[in-house]
Amino acid sequence: RGANQVASALLDWYDAHHRELPWRVPPRDLKLGVRPDPYCIWLSEVMLQQTTVEAVKSYFTAFVEQWPDVFALAAADNSDVMRAWAGLGYYSRARNLKACAETIATQYAGVFPETEEQLRSLPGIGPYTAAAIASIAFNRPAAVVDGNIERVISRLYAIATPLPAAKIEIKQRVTEILPFDRPGDFAQAMMDLGATICSPKRPKCMLCPIKEHCAALANGDPEIYPAKAAK
Ligand code: ADE
Repeated sequence: RGANQVASALLDWYDAHHRELPWRVPPRDLKLGVRPDPYCIWLSEVMLQQTTVEAVKSYFTAFVEQWPDVFALAAADNSDVMRAWAGLGYYSRARNLKACAETIATQYAGVFPETEEQLRSLPGIGPYTAAAIASIAFNRPAAVVDGNIERVISRLYAIATPLPAAKIEIKQRVTEILPFDRPGDFAQAMMDLGATICSPKRPKCMLCPIKEHCAALANGDPEIYPAKAAK
């Protein structure tokens, strides 16, 4: 990956500054060969679809304590799952979660599939969540693009096209710089960068590990990205 300076700088920063999150296997453990539990990555990504990291933490921990694996969740009472979900909102997520657990338990012998295509066929797993699971749980080179990553990439390349039209170019750019040795860490590094440094307002560019590569910073005003459509 020497040729890809953006990814190496981002991964070095992630090694030193990644957030410790209850579903996350830190890079030092991944390097020792520890693998994430796909059940935990799936559960956390479904919770994170429409809920903030801070709000998800305690729900995630309580879920995994009550239902430690996909068979336990598949066997759970619907009413208990809905009760444990209460407060997270978007309750169709909880119904899909239960349906997905049942499918994995009965049709996949409890083993999560690894490809984006297979993952997308499951209840409650759309393109974003499929890419996140393939990359974080299985280290497959999937292009993960959430709102934070859209902002980081829009600024890095000073993409003038407004969202949602810019999504195509953003996905191409992510694919170009994806490091094949650590795609899961790369996705989470971009999420952390977007959450802590490349914020919507007043980004902390002085602290950014990829500031030398950022076209928006070179142009003078990173805050104007992602571009807004004229009204
Ligand atoms: N938002 C969605 N998925 C996330 C993850 N794995 N880490 C941090 N923030 C996230």
